Amino acid sequence: MKVGGDAYRSIWVEDDARTVGIIDQTRLPFEFVTTRLESLDAAVEAIVRMRVRGAPLIGVTAAYGVCLRMRTDPSDAALRAACKTLLATRPTGRNLRWALDAMGAALDAAAPAERERRAYARAAELAEDDVRSCRAIGEHGLRVIEEAFERRGSRGAVNVLTHCNAGWLATVDWGTALAPVYRAHERGIPLHVWVDETRPRNQGASLTAWELGQHGVPHTVIVDNAGGHLMQRGLVDLCITGSDRTTATGDVCNKIGTYLKALAARDNDIPFYVALPSSTIDWDLADGAAIPIEERAAREVGVVAGRAADGSVVEVAILPPGSPVANYGFDVTPARLVTALITERGICDASAEGLVGLYPEPRAPG
Ligand code: MRU
Repeated sequence: MKVGGDAYRSIWVEDDARTVGIIDQTRLPFEFVTTRLESLDAAVEAIVRMRVRGAPLIGVTAAYGVCLRMRTDPSDAALRAACKTLLATRPTGRNLRWALDAMGAALDAAAPAERERRAYARAAELAEDDVRSCRAIGEHGLRVIEEAFERRGSRGAVNVLTHCNAGWLATVDWGTALAPVYRAHERGIPLHVWVDETRPRNQGASLTAWELGQHGVPHTVIVDNAGGHLMQRGLVDLCITGSDRTTATGDVCNKIGTYLKALAARDNDIPFYVALPSSTIDWDLADGAAIPIEERAAREVGVVAGRAADGSVVEVAILPPGSPVANYGFDVTPARLVTALITERGICDASAEGLVGLYPEPRAPG
């Protein structure tokens, strides 16, 4: 997608065919800074500090983390240890495990001398696969925006509400929830996006608003609690969010607060779609309640970063000293609240039957 008119992906291999370029997402929206990952440790740090985030991008970054390790030590022990360390970085998203399984399958049987070359080739395939999937999600999801536009008749732009950042910064390119938005915008369908700010890290306000702004997509940032009110007033035509892990029965786990939007959407008869590549599907899980929910540092809730009047980026404390904090990163929206899943293979019911209809191939238990 575009940054200042130039095409970018969120991750790439640099010209030296070795180091890995990323956009440091902790610096947005105030500064656009790219940085190089030169080692496994740097890849781990980038995921843990959320320089890269979003389930699909975390998966691809982990794959490149394995590549960086295979450069210095292609032994079995180093491969196993790298996968173990990477897997422990963020517990909720499924794509991380998916990417590491794919890397393991490609490298396990290879002779150590072959591993570096194979690792880079496989990681590049995973990145391309993600781009293809997200582009296809955009094509399929375009239909639901077109339908919403038709339902509006002559009443102007379609209003889409989204939560967190499930745009191109969360994937390698295009995004999941935002891919249909970008396709509709390219098609000239008038649309406007309500962007939940997404406390505590503000991925909506900092990243989604920035992305949409770069592409000229009309949008408005709202506080997290505004969505229900807008729905009651008829100001939302449909919701689209992403998913970090999707159960085989269609429950979806996404950024904390997603569930409340789904509840409000149901109460107001507003379609609630979840867009996801199949790399988020956990075929071994039937119940969303079993998904591990990441609990993050109290500091994220108690300290807010922003730009001061003199242009510097500063942090300010917002809590009474000593107040305890709970910081759950994700929540689970039960399948019954999801209108449909938008995947790279098409749109299906959020149910076991719906998912198996699109993905009928046999799967070995994970
Ligand atoms: O904590 P983050 O910023 O990694 O959370 C990201 C989300 O919750 C996205 O909605 C999710 O990864 C799905 S989108 C591609």
